[in-house]
Amino acid sequence: MTEPLIREDAVVLGIETSCDETAVAVVRGGREILSNVIASQAELHAPYGGVVPELASRAHVEQMPLAVDKALRDAGVGVRDLDAIAATRGPGLIGALLVGWATGKAMAGALRLPFSGVHHIEGHIFASVLGDDPFEPPFVALVVSGGHTSLFAVRELGGYEVLGQTLDDAAGEAFDKIARFLGLGYPGGPAIDKLSKRGNAEAVAFPRAMLRDGLDFSFSGLKTAVVRHVRRAEAAGEKASRSDVAASFQEAVVDVQVSKTLRACHELGIDRVVIGGGVAANSRLRARLGAEAKDARLALCVPDPALCVDNGAMIAAAGYFRLRRGEATPLSTPADASLVLSV
Ligand code: KG4
Ligand code: ZN
Repeated sequence: MTEPLIREDAVVLGIETSCDETAVAVVRGGREILSNVIASQAELHAPYGGVVPELASRAHVEQMPLAVDKALRDAGVGVRDLDAIAATRGPGLIGALLVGWATGKAMAGALRLPFSGVHHIEGHIFASVLGDDPFEPPFVALVVSGGHTSLFAVRELGGYEVLGQTLDDAAGEAFDKIARFLGLGYPGGPAIDKLSKRGNAEAVAFPRAMLRDGLDFSFSGLKTAVVRHVRRAEAAGEKASRSDVAASFQEAVVDVQVSKTLRACHELGIDRVVIGGGVAANSRLRARLGAEAKDARLALCVPDPALCVDNGAMIAAAGYFRLRRGEATPLSTPADASLVLSV
């Protein structure tokens, strides 16, 4: 085992700017969240119905110094109390990534601290180790976000076997596109989640793509089915109930996710499950997975919604883990918009 590069109770500043949240957090000992600042750009992008990369980069540049300052103040620490810096290296929007990446490297260089470049998805998986009761591998991890939909077998932290992934859209992307189509604005996931509470999830039997085929996912057919359903109702002079369509769409997504996650556990003989990523904040997914994992006697880790969406605490936790293993990222390393999660 390589020598740890930081102490066990090291204080790590984590920076995340892969998409549209300027997020900075301070975490002690890889688990204790001292602060977790998330400056969302949702309002900025809302008029465009999605993230505009150029606007995201500029907003990160504006928000970053304020977010770093607030994260330190909320944590009650100064820069001299930091033991290491972690930042998201990729994947994501390159202009957005570069803001957090350059900030992290500049701070690490100026303060002469070890630096860790974190894979965004590894960060989402590490949300499960934050808090008083860290979840131990082996587990199956379902990571569902605006850019990713993947199932992993995690037999030990730092080692990830891809069991399945989306063949087209990510789950969050499907939520955002359907929300836009229904005129619910951006970001779509929370809007559909909210509206669905008033709708009938059984109103429309939307397709459950690839439900029984392997562990990959596909959402583009579902998206087309929703659009076709609404247009057909309009052509017949009716108005499809938006809340029923939203609830039925959400149920179709959740059905496939829950069923594949449980099947992965069954096939691999693993009785522990973690969910992460923005879509893991979905109340229906949390409730259904909670109930079905209980029935199947699986231990389930569902991080707090604030730790499911993009945040700096998960990046600090993953960076802490890598630095404790003796793995630092040289400051000459570039950010990588298409970074692959090494297994
Ligand atoms: O992990 P995240 O914050 O950013 C990415 O890495 O992409 O995920 C953002 C995605 C968006 O597509 C958003 O609509 C979705 O997560 N999301 C939700 C909910 N909250 C956020 N989707 C469904 N239900 C929610 N409550
Ligand atoms: Zn994410």
